[in-house]
Amino acid sequence: MDPVVVGISGGSGAVLAKLAIDELMARNIPVWATCSSAGRQVWHHEMGEPFSRALSEWGDNPLFTYYNINDIGAPLASGSAPTTGMLVMPCSMATVAAIAHGLADNLLRRAADVTLKERRRLIIVPRETPFSSIHLENLLKLSQAGVVVLPPAPAFYLRPKSVEDIARYIAAKALSALGLPGTLSQEFRYQGREERSSP
Ligand SMILES: Cc1cc2nc3c(=O)[nH]c(=O)nc-3n(C[C@H](O)[C@H](O)[C@H](O)COP(=O)(O)O)c2cc1C
Repeated sequence: MDPVVVGISGGSGAVLAKLAIDELMARNIPVWATCSSAGRQVWHHEMGEPFSRALSEWGDNPLFTYYNINDIGAPLASGSAPTTGMLVMPCSMATVAAIAHGLADNLLRRAADVTLKERRRLIIVPRETPFSSIHLENLLKLSQAGVVVLPPAPAFYLRPKSVEDIARYIAAKALSALGLPGTLSQEFRYQGREERSSP
């Protein structure tokens, strides 16, 4: 399978990117990743360890390739390099704005621009609350351009027991939106209301 591009920006939710990358590689799917400078800062803050530590762990896996955010000569900067699609997770409002306006000023944003122009699947997981009208206008623009806008919203109806349950669900939804079969496992599927079956 062609690689999935994972762009990690400086929105909150670094754990979502970690879960998605781990799951892709567990499924034997190659990953091309890039992380913005703010993304690295947020990662360190939220994960309690530098992003470089995750990079060195993933780096042992031949399925994983990391490209520096300034490496505009990387293959994912060109439409001629085939990919399965791209996840931007978490996606900051700055990166939402940039992608919505074609501002390809770093490798993550350029790769998203390329994914759009090549009409491949682009899934973004925008994290902010509340949204301003500007955020919403940018998100609408992206949705109208064919982007799947998948906010990191918990499925309360699945009765998650921990933040990890919520994060695993959101990562699974994002991978499923990429069209990867079997990524939304049974535990994340609504089985119907319990009280319906009681006498
Ligand atoms: C701990 C932390 C959490 C942040 N969370 C968010 C967030 O959830 N959403 C957002 O849009 N920006 C958030 N930011 C601000 C962005 O990181 C900042 O706007 C940055 O310029 C985004 O750049 P990038 O899109 O290139 O990663 C956060 C920053 C920090 C330090």
